[in-house]
Amino acid sequence: MHQAKVFITRRLPTDLAQLREVATIEVWEERQPPPYEVLLEKVKTIDGLLCLLTDRIDKQLIEAATCLKVISQMAVGYDNIDIPTATAKKIPVGHTPGVLTDATADFTWALLMAAARRVVEADRFTRAGLWQTWEPDLLLGPNITGATLGIVGLGRIGQAVARRAKGFEMRVLYTSKQRCQAELEKSLGVEFVSFEGLLQESDFVTIHTPLSDDTYHFFSYRQFEMMKHSAILINTARGGVINQDALYQALLQGQIAGAAIDVTDPEPIPTDSLLLTLDNLIIAPHIGSASQQTREKMANMAIANLIAGLKGERLPYCVNHPS
Ligand code: DGY
Repeated sequence: MHQAKVFITRRLPTDLAQLREVATIEVWEERQPPPYEVLLEKVKTIDGLLCLLTDRIDKQLIEAATCLKVISQMAVGYDNIDIPTATAKKIPVGHTPGVLTDATADFTWALLMAAARRVVEADRFTRAGLWQTWEPDLLLGPNITGATLGIVGLGRIGQAVARRAKGFEMRVLYTSKQRCQAELEKSLGVEFVSFEGLLQESDFVTIHTPLSDDTYHFFSYRQFEMMKHSAILINTARGGVINQDALYQALLQGQIAGAAIDVTDPEPIPTDSLLLTLDNLIIAPHIGSASQQTREKMANMAIANLIAGLKGERLPYCVNHPS
């Protein structure tokens, strides 16, 4: 009987024993992702691919596959995968929704609070030996409690962020493609507003929308002009949702007060990016879901999707369900 072959594009934080029972596994052991050309060759002979958001799974790559039965991504987002081409080739694409919601919402709050209360600047200040006395106006930031929070995209993560805002007695606005059920709005304590209204009224704006043609550069010069000068922007979604040149100008010119981003475009951010020169910006290396427990759950979910696809079964968490 044909033993299925799978390629896993990075070492995973979980045990592969269950997968070994149904497939021969090759794991890319390097710290850097496999080069595109390597993937292009691999995909010609494998039955299953387990990939990460750093792998470009485009039309050319999917069309080069001859026996690929399943693509399983260890991430909830899948903007790196050409879904229409996979669907046209009847290849199901799996992802890992739900398990990373809390970790990502927690990290959104970590960034929001760090930016508001200038935690990173304070650490740099202290290490530089600049702490000489208690000063009434040292490293001041805005109140979080009682402020207005604007959530762009009220999916799972946006909702989890809203739930956490209750503890801070905030007014929570949201904007979304579709308005939620009144019951959900009530239980979360959120108000639906237009995108423009949210930008104008929020003290903190947090992005939780997937990257698509519609959301690419959703935040650009015009949007920053609409925001309060005191506003702080948080992004734990995808870098491409923000026009980074516009963000740089907005932060430099004080159009907004600060930002904290876990995602950039491209990733990693080039070391000569002007954004890295700004004190009012915090940048993290895409670690929103990086709790040990979460990453293990994501890996297990990706393996479950992979095994189902190899067996020709419906994927537990499928993006496209090709018939
Ligand atoms: C995702 O899953 O899409 C995140 O960006 C990484 O956890």
